[in-house]
Amino acid sequence: MKVLITGGSGFIGQALCRTLIAAQHQPLVVSRSPEKAAKALPVGVIARARVADFADEAPEAIINLAGEPIAEGRWTEAKKKALIESRVNITREVVDFCSRQEQPPATLISASAVGYYGDQGSRDVTEQTTPHDEFAHQLCKRWEAEAQRAESLGVRVAILRIGLVLDAGGGMLTKTAPIFKLGLGGKLGNGQQYMPWIHRNDMVGMILFLLERDDLSGAFNASAPNPVTNAEFTRELGRALKRPAVLPAPALALKLVFGEMSRLLLTGAKMLPARMEQAGYPFEYRQLDRALTDIFRA
Ligand SMILES: NC(=O)c1ccc[n+]([C@@H]2O[C@H](COP(=O)([O-])OP(=O)(O)OC[C@H]3O[C@@H](n4cnc5c(N)ncnc54)[C@H](OP(=O)(O)O)[C@@H]3O)[C@@H](O)[C@H]2O)c1
Repeated sequence: MKVLITGGSGFIGQALCRTLIAAQHQPLVVSRSPEKAAKALPVGVIARARVADFADEAPEAIINLAGEPIAEGRWTEAKKKALIESRVNITREVVDFCSRQEQPPATLISASAVGYYGDQGSRDVTEQTTPHDEFAHQLCKRWEAEAQRAESLGVRVAILRIGLVLDAGGGMLTKTAPIFKLGLGGKLGNGQQYMPWIHRNDMVGMILFLLERDDLSGAFNASAPNPVTNAEFTRELGRALKRPAVLPAPALALKLVFGEMSRLLLTGAKMLPARMEQAGYPFEYRQLDRALTDIFRA
């Protein structure tokens, strides 16, 4: 199957391309730097600069992952604009592409994030939960709405509300593991905020699962069935790295350093993959200790 992937050069996209190639699919990657992306991706991946550049390939599915990194630097007004526009604009390009294809792709799987729900304290959060209105929610709402437009073109649309993706070589662990390895890790604020995590294998697994299951559409929480609090995460990461993790970062300091972006660190949602479980997705990693042991095994 020809699968077009926006943001295919990223942390999730790289692993997705490897899995698609291994399964004899043809990844078509949209990247702002196609030559650089092609070098970093497995042999066989075709990279081009714009979604429209793949019109002649008639992809059967699109995976929409592109977007400005959200957890880097303070959320200035300019950064907020870039976070929204980088996602909404490329998603619009994707939907416009679908509308121009003689045979539109059968499936669009589009990324969103746990941020869709905003701060939810310690209550269970399923796809039915009413979101808390804040910046992360506004961003995800606009991103999802843009993707949903493809439905009117006869495209099956599945949205993945992604939790914290864990693996070596990218994502949040590349930032936190070095700090923990120095013995400088610790909980953030009071540590009671929930961190819905997912091993990158399962993230890619869910995308493949949704590609194959043409009876599934709508929003899916993309996280493991056992989310943990930040305090539990801290303890497990310290254990996996065999380092003490007893140096807490006070909430006030994080607010001073990161401004509004500190909400990503200090608030959360106990997100549960209710619809994935219902659909029978076979999780490889349900428990954080097993996921971290796998990641730091080397
Ligand atoms: N990783 C996580 O824990 C996590 C959690 C929740 C949601 N998500 C969402 O899932 C998606 C994929 O995640 P990821 O971790 O693979 O992200 P990533 O590693 O940051 O990769 C995203 C890709 O998007 C492209 N990109 C970056 N800035 C862009 C911009 N301003 N305009 C257009 N394209 C841009 C880049 O590709 P080029 O440089 O090749 O153009 C980059 O490789 C992201 O949208 C992210 O927000 C991820």
